[in-house]
Amino acid sequence: MTLEAVINLDLGGPRINRHLYGHFAEHLGRCVYGGFWVGEDSPIPNAGGIRLDVVHALRALRIPNLRWPGGCFADEYHWQDGIGPRGQRPVMVNTHWGGVEENNHFGTHEFMALCELLGAEPYISGNVGSGTVREMSDWVEYLTRDGDSPMARLRKANGRDEPWRVRFWGLGNEAWGCGGNMTAEHYAQEARRYGTYCRDYGDNRLYKIAAGANGEDYAWTETLMKQVGHLGCRHVRSTGYHALSLHYYTITGPSWDEKGSATDFGTDEHYRTMVAAARVEELLAGHTAVMDCYDPAGSVGLVLDEWGTWFDVAPGTNPGFLHQQNTLRDALVASVHFDVFHRHAGRLVMANIAQTVNVLQAMILTDPETNALVLTPTYHVFRMNRDHQDATSLRVDPRTPLPSRQVGDATLTTVSMSASRKDGRLLVSLSNLDAEAPADVELDLRGGALETAEAVILTSAAVQDHNTAQSPSTVAPRPYDGVALHGGTLRVHLPAHSFVTVSGACAVR
Ligand code: AHR
Repeated sequence: MTLEAVINLDLGGPRINRHLYGHFAEHLGRCVYGGFWVGEDSPIPNAGGIRLDVVHALRALRIPNLRWPGGCFADEYHWQDGIGPRGQRPVMVNTHWGGVEENNHFGTHEFMALCELLGAEPYISGNVGSGTVREMSDWVEYLTRDGDSPMARLRKANGRDEPWRVRFWGLGNEAWGCGGNMTAEHYAQEARRYGTYCRDYGDNRLYKIAAGANGEDYAWTETLMKQVGHLGCRHVRSTGYHALSLHYYTITGPSWDEKGSATDFGTDEHYRTMVAAARVEELLAGHTAVMDCYDPAGSVGLVLDEWGTWFDVAPGTNPGFLHQQNTLRDALVASVHFDVFHRHAGRLVMANIAQTVNVLQAMILTDPETNALVLTPTYHVFRMNRDHQDATSLRVDPRTPLPSRQVGDATLTTVSMSASRKDGRLLVSLSNLDAEAPADVELDLRGGALETAEAVILTSAAVQDHNTAQSPSTVAPRPYDGVALHGGTLRVHLPAHSFVTVSGACAVR
């Protein structure tokens, strides 16, 4: 049966903030060291130690922001250890991630250089768990203060005269867990205290993000909303925080110790993963509802700054390095998340997939032996969807029942869609989560006209398929002819386990 839906091209919803396509790089496993950072003496082509093939691949995604240095690592990171001559920087133990030594060779200057190369805005997570207010306050001064001051002088002594611009500032991470095991009430006070001393220097305006809830912990969000501080008051910048974060991972195994293999899974497990991914909609709606009660005007942002799949680590790799392969299943997890993000773009202002290189649901995998770089199926979803960034979200309203499957107690809707309009072009994203059956969609385009329709498909013979250095394009986007445009009707055939984008010039009446 064909699924019919309506898109009103002239009825725009919220702007899809480009920061919904944000990224995350933690000092964890081979994300920073061996991923982004190879050091200046590496035979791998690099700019001041930053791996250039990784930068070029990510630039094609137009990545809007990069969150760093954690994660859990952020709350044991002392930024002053990561400045000055590299050979003199102290070594620490990365207690969260494998107990390995961290030589601090990748620090503030290296991170800011990486952001400049990527054309991405920095999002820095400060240390609340084991740091001090003074330490965080000094870091802001070091990064952003112009003129003469102790931290500005220190920055200049380390080779950077001009202050950087840094907008996004995290007040700790997972304060309910690795970030200090605090209660919501205690953390809310701490966030206000830390936020108070993170100053705006010159015209640099910080956007302070409080460490928010884990999954369905709505009580945490409510406590933070009660304490957000002077909403609507001109002092909000100096006394409060501007946004709350949320973390939600797609985890499907029976227990934390058995999350399931990233590549060796059956159809049932595929469906369970899709159910877990689609649950992000319930969570965003739930946290938004709580925030609406305290802030109906929507001034406080919601930031999903960790999301993505979390499977068992690849066999033979360090359990603390969270290295996993990435299949077509991961790509569908990503495409479903983006559809949900586009629908919630009113409150959701940023999202960061965990993590960009070599860790969890990565865009890029690098081989430690051969140095080969592999683009994952998830990378291709970011690439195919990139024109949704800063576009106007359009509703896709079904007129017939959505196809579904029963998965245990849950009903999985197997077709997911979203659409947006920008600069006279329409972009529609469609995912068929069904691993066995194709789906046909008929979109009734009203309030304007789509003049052309170019389609791209991401699929493969099996949902377990993935890319390796030997076979880098097993799952790669290809031009697609399974679409037909007749007047105001766009028909799309979706093969089993596929992701399709359709774009074209569109005029709005
Ligand atoms: O992304 C891996 C870890 O997951 C992060 O460090 C932490 O914030 C979360 O629990």
